Amino acid sequence: MSNRRCTILVCQGTGCISGGAEQIFSSLEEEMARLNLEESVQIKRTGCHGFCQRGPLVIIEPESIFYSKVKLDDVPDIAQSFLPGGKPLEHLFYHDPVTGEPIPHYGDIPFYNKQERIVLRNCGHIDPEDIGDFLALGGYEALRKALFDKTPEQVIEEVKRSGLRGLGGAGFPTGRKWEACRMAPGEEKYVICNGDEGDPGAFQDRSTMEGDPHSVLEGMIIAGYAIGAKKGFIYVRAEYPLAVKRLKIAIAQAREEGFLGKDILGSGFDFDIEIFQGAGAFVCGESTALVLSIQGKRGMPKPLPRPRTAEMGLWDKPTLLNNVKTFANIPLIINRGWEWFASRGTEKSKGTAIFSLTGKVANCGLIEVPMGVTLREIIYDIGGGIPGEKAFKAVQTGGPSGGCLPASFLDMPVDFDSLVTAGSMMGSGGMVVMDEDTCMVDVARYFLDFTRRESCGQCIPCRLGTEQMFEVLDDITKGRGRPEDIDLLLELSDAIAHGSLCALGKTAPNPVLTTIRYFRDEYEAHIDEKRCPAGVCRELTKEKS
Ligand SMILES: Cc1cc2nc3c(=O)[nH]c(=O)nc-3n(C[C@H](O)[C@H](O)[C@H](O)COP(=O)(O)O)c2cc1C
Repeated sequence: MSNRRCTILVCQGTGCISGGAEQIFSSLEEEMARLNLEESVQIKRTGCHGFCQRGPLVIIEPESIFYSKVKLDDVPDIAQSFLPGGKPLEHLFYHDPVTGEPIPHYGDIPFYNKQERIVLRNCGHIDPEDIGDFLALGGYEALRKALFDKTPEQVIEEVKRSGLRGLGGAGFPTGRKWEACRMAPGEEKYVICNGDEGDPGAFQDRSTMEGDPHSVLEGMIIAGYAIGAKKGFIYVRAEYPLAVKRLKIAIAQAREEGFLGKDILGSGFDFDIEIFQGAGAFVCGESTALVLSIQGKRGMPKPLPRPRTAEMGLWDKPTLLNNVKTFANIPLIINRGWEWFASRGTEKSKGTAIFSLTGKVANCGLIEVPMGVTLREIIYDIGGGIPGEKAFKAVQTGGPSGGCLPASFLDMPVDFDSLVTAGSMMGSGGMVVMDEDTCMVDVARYFLDFTRRESCGQCIPCRLGTEQMFEVLDDITKGRGRPEDIDLLLELSDAIAHGSLCALGKTAPNPVLTTIRYFRDEYEAHIDEKRCPAGVCRELTKEKS
C-alpha cells in the first residue's frame, strides 16, 4: 500500500497531448522531485477525461480538483501548491461562463454533472498503461464471474436481457447476435472488435481504446467464452497510433496476468487477441468489408443476399463483430446484472449513449449520457450552448450516414429509434452542432464530398450517384443551381438509397434529404435568388440578416 496522500492525474488523451500534456507530465515529475514531494504526491497519466475543449487537463485526487487549460508555465505553481500551507490554484479552475464564478471540483461542472459515465467510467481516472490501476477498480472480475459462475448460455442470456444494442451504428440487439454466433455450426469461431471509426467528427472509440483498453479486452474475452471462440481481432485504423500502442501494452499485460492465452485463470478456456491495423477507409468499418480487409483482401462489402457475418465471417467461420463501446459495456452488465443495465435509458434503447460533441458549442468533448436525454440537455446543459451569442441552427448526428436536425427537435429524446424517425441516426456517435453562420447546402455538399470519395466503387448507384449528387450540390453553392435541382437531388437520393449494395450508399443521401426536408428555403434562396442566407458560399451574394 502506498502512503501517498494525493494523486495528480494528467490527461494524456490525444487532444491534451496536442496541447502539450506530455511535457506538462514530465515537468511535473521533475518539479515534484526537486521539491522532495515524490513520497506524498503521486503523478499519473490517464486517458481522455472528456472535456477536450479545456485541455490540457490536470485533476487532483482525492479532492477532484479540476484544472483546465494548463500550461507548462503553470507547473511550478502546481507543484508549490502541495507544499505545507499551499492552496489550489484558482486561476486554473473552470469558471462559469455566465457568472464568472470559479468551480473547483469537476463533479460540480455542468459539463460533467449531467452525464452518466458508465462505459467511460475509467477514462481519465486510471493509467491505461498500468493493468494494476484497472485491477484495483475491479477489472477482470466480470471475466472471473463469467468463467466460473456462468455457462456460456447464461452469459448470453444476461446480455440479451440487458437490452444492450450495438453502439456501432445500427443498434442491433447484442445478445441476439451473440446467440446466433454461438448457435452457428462450426468449431472454429472468431470475435472481432470494430475500432475503425471513420465518421468525420467522431472520436469516442479512439478515446475508449486509448483511455480504458482493458474494459474492451475484458468484454471481448467474455464474448469469446460465450460464443465458443479462441481468437479475437481488434481492427483499429493506423491513424490511431496511441490507441494501437495502448492496446498492445494492455494485451501484453493481460497475457502476463493470465487473462489472455491458454487456460485463462485455470478455467480451461483459451483465448487470445491480435491487433489488425486498417489503412483508414470508411467502408472498411462495414462488417463484410472489414472481414475481407483482415484477410488481406480489398475491403469491399459483400452483396446481398449473403450469409450473416455471425454465421460466415472471417475465413468463412462464424464471427462475432461488435463495436468498441459495445464490448466495453459487457463487464458492467456481468458485474452489476442485466436488471441494473436494463433499468437505464428508454424502453427500447437501454444504457447510455456516447457522443463526440463538437462544432459550434461552448464545451466540446466526449460525453456519455443516459439514452433518452434530450438534444437540448446535451447542447445547452452539457455543451454550454452556442458561443458568441449566435443562434442554434442544426445538429448533425450519425456522421455521413446521419442527418441534420433543426431547432424544433431540441426537445426530442435521443435514442436509436427517435433519431431514425427524425431522418437521422445514432451512428457511431458523432454530434456536430451548427449555428446561424452555417450554410446547410454547404454542409450537405461536405458530407457528399466525403461519401463520394469513400465509396468503394463496387456498385454504380453509390459510385456514380454520390458523384452526381455532389456535382449538383456544388453547382448550387456556386450559383449555378437550376429550379429542377431539388427534385433531381430527391430522385437521385431515392435511387442511391434503394440501389446501393451496402449501408454506405444506402445512407449517403441522409444529409441531403434532411437538409432539404428541414432547410428547403436555403436551397431555394441559393437557386432562385442566387443568395446564400448564411453568407458562406463565396460565389453568391454575401447577405446576412
Ligand atoms: C460504411 C460503413 C461504415 C461503418 N463503420 C463502422 C465503424 O467504424 N465502427 C463500427 O463499430 N461499426 C461500423 N459500421 C457498422 C458495422 O458494419 C457493424 O454493424 C458494427 O460494427 C456492429 O457492431 P455493433 O453490433 O456493436 O454495433 C459501419 C457500417 C457501414 C455501412
